[in-house]
Amino acid sequence: DRSVKIAPSILSADFANFGAEIRAIEGQGADWVHVDVMDGHFVPNLTFGPPAVKAFRRHVKTVMDVHLMIAPVDPFIEAYAEAGADILTAHVEAGPHIHRTLQAIRGAGMKAGVALNPGTPAEAVAHLLDLAGLVCVMTVNPGFGGQTFIDMTAKIRTLRAMIGDRPVHIEVDGGVDPATAPVVVDAGADVLVAGSAVFRGGSVDKAEIYGQNIRAI
Ligand code: DX5
Ligand code: ZN
Repeated sequence: DRSVKIAPSILSADFANFGAEIRAIEGQGADWVHVDVMDGHFVPNLTFGPPAVKAFRRHVKTVMDVHLMIAPVDPFIEAYAEAGADILTAHVEAGPHIHRTLQAIRGAGMKAGVALNPGTPAEAVAHLLDLAGLVCVMTVNPGFGGQTFIDMTAKIRTLRAMIGDRPVHIEVDGGVDPATAPVVVDAGADVLVAGSAVFRGGSVDKAEIYGQNIRAI
């Protein structure tokens, strides 16, 4: 379905309280839980690996959307399947064989996602749209939460036209907040990742989840 989904990123959650943070965002209406995996190599930051993601799974009742910012990807696909990822997204820039990677993700029983850095054109996924269930348009250079939104509206519109009536989500990740969300939804996005806009001040206790604003559009 094409209703807009909200996927808070636990990159901006309290790292000592993931269980409570996940329960809180789901209690406030999150549709998916977005998990940012970084390896200190593909991106200049390091977060968590399969054992931590498996522990998050015990708390996630909705959909666990795992965004891999790692290279290589293929040696870890099975581990993220075992960890309980529903959607596993790899970057098109992470290696020469993204098509094989998406085949392997599907083969392991997950929905396959493909992410595009801001500098990568929409056309990079032209031959992947029958394999991928999701295209993630990065609106920041990946690696950190809390960065300034980069306008990728033209890319989102191009992708929406390329996708046609295939069942492929367009997810937007980076700098999404109540001001930028309507812009990307208007361009054709249907999944909104947000870290700092949801976990303002470091804990969801203080958050005013912006999803309600989006649904009111
Ligand atoms: C960035 C991550 C994002 C990040 C978004 O590398 O992929 O998911 O957590 O954070 P905000 O919403 O703060 O830009
Ligand atoms: Zn992400």
